[in-house]
Amino acid sequence: MKIIMLGAPGAGKGTQAKMLAEKYGIPHISTGDIFRANIKNGTELGAKAKEYMDKGLLVPDELVVDLIMDRFKADDCKNGYILDGFPRTIPQAEALDAALAANGEKIDYAVNVEVPDENIVNRMSGRRACVGCGATYHIVYNPTKVEGKCDTCGADLILRDDDKPETVLNRLKVYHEQTQPLIDFYTKKGVIAEVDGTKDMKDVFDAIVAILG
Ligand code: AP5
Ligand code: ZN
Repeated sequence: MKIIMLGAPGAGKGTQAKMLAEKYGIPHISTGDIFRANIKNGTELGAKAKEYMDKGLLVPDELVVDLIMDRFKADDCKNGYILDGFPRTIPQAEALDAALAANGEKIDYAVNVEVPDENIVNRMSGRRACVGCGATYHIVYNPTKVEGKCDTCGADLILRDDDKPETVLNRLKVYHEQTQPLIDFYTKKGVIAEVDGTKDMKDVFDAIVAILG
């Protein structure tokens, strides 16, 4: 099964993608996580991506497309995957389509997690990310057992650099301009699945599973 998670920054794509990956036994591929891992490891790709991410801008298409095409070669992708944060522009979606079509494949579902802009800043300002394993929490909606420490690995939690309110507003603007058109793109292909992302995490998950089967 090949699934795309669509939705505004902070809509809960990553949260749902992790749960779905576990349920269906396919990898969760997050371009944002790959970039953050590269930044942490001080790679050249990480340095390039950081320039854009810190401003709330998208990393150039060619960098992202190359990275994803490379990731698809891995063995764990043979039964499908859950794409989180890719594609994010029409050219990225077209590149993905072309790569899949070349192998006689296609996307099964593009799940759009719908959350209004008013809720987004609150979601992001309360999000905390683990510096050790990258797990994501929320100070109100998904708190850790010990404040400021990851439940899984015990490392410290931080506010992501791009979750500061001024950057969040820019990410939302970029989302509406460059990523929202993908909803139309996948609607025309007949693979869109709309879910209400304002419900609690478990209800959103159940709604997605009801569609995917
Ligand atoms: P990326 O990491 O993909 O960021 P994003 O799309 O902005 O998404 P987020 O990770 O911020 O949010 P999410 O929807 O996954 O929400 P989450 O589940 O964490 O990308 C970062 C940057 O990398 C981009 O800005 C860009 O520069 C670059 N980039 C990445 N991919 C790219 C691409 N393809 N092309 C170009 N550039 C690219 O949830 C948010 C919070 O809410 C959490 O705290 C969570 O606990 C909480 N929460 C989740 N669900 C619920 C719920 N139902 N109720 C209450 N709280 C909830
Ligand atoms: Zn951790």
